[in-house]
Amino acid sequence: MSHPVTQERPAAHGDALNLVRTAVAEAPGPAAAAQRAVELLHDRFPHYDWVGVYWVEGGDLVLGPWMGPEATDHTRIPIGTGICGAAAATGTTEIVPDVNADPRYLACFASTQSEIVVPIFDGGEVVGEIDVDGTDRDAFDETDARFLEEIAALLAPLRPRA
Ligand code: SME
Repeated sequence: MSHPVTQERPAAHGDALNLVRTAVAEAPGPAAAAQRAVELLHDRFPHYDWVGVYWVEGGDLVLGPWMGPEATDHTRIPIGTGICGAAAATGTTEIVPDVNADPRYLACFASTQSEIVVPIFDGGEVVGEIDVDGTDRDAFDETDARFLEEIAALLAPLRPRA
C-alpha cells in the first residue's frame, strides 16, 4: 500500500540521519545525546507521534528518553511482552499497521493506530529499541524501518552501562 509521502521520505531521512549524527557527536554525554535524537525524530516527522527509546535491563525493557504528547505507563516491559517485547526477544523490526488487530499490542495511548519497533544492537546483542507510535493507521513502511535501523546503530553506544 502506498503512502502519499513515501517518495519524499528518503531525502528527509538522510537529513535527519545527519542531524542525529551531529547531535550525538556534540551532546555533553550519552543521555543528552539519546534525548536529542528522540526529539529530532519526533520533531522532523509528523507521523512519528510518540518516540521513545527502551534500554534492556536484565529481562526487561526500561524506558529511556521519549518525546510525545503524553507519558506512558509502560516504563518497564518484560522482554517477550507486547510488540516492544517481541522485537527485543527476536531482534526483528516490527511494523504493525493496525495495533488493534495485533493481539500482542500493549495499549499506551488511545490515539495510537500503528506502531514500529526497531531493535538496537551492540555486538550482535539487543541492548534496546526505538518505539514509534502513529495516530494514522499504516503510518510506517520499509523506508521508516531502514531509516530507524540506521538511527539505532547511532544510539547503540549511548546505552546506559551499569
Ligand atoms: N505499544 C507497546 C508498548 C509501549 S507504548 O506504545 C509506549 C507494545 O505493544 O509493546
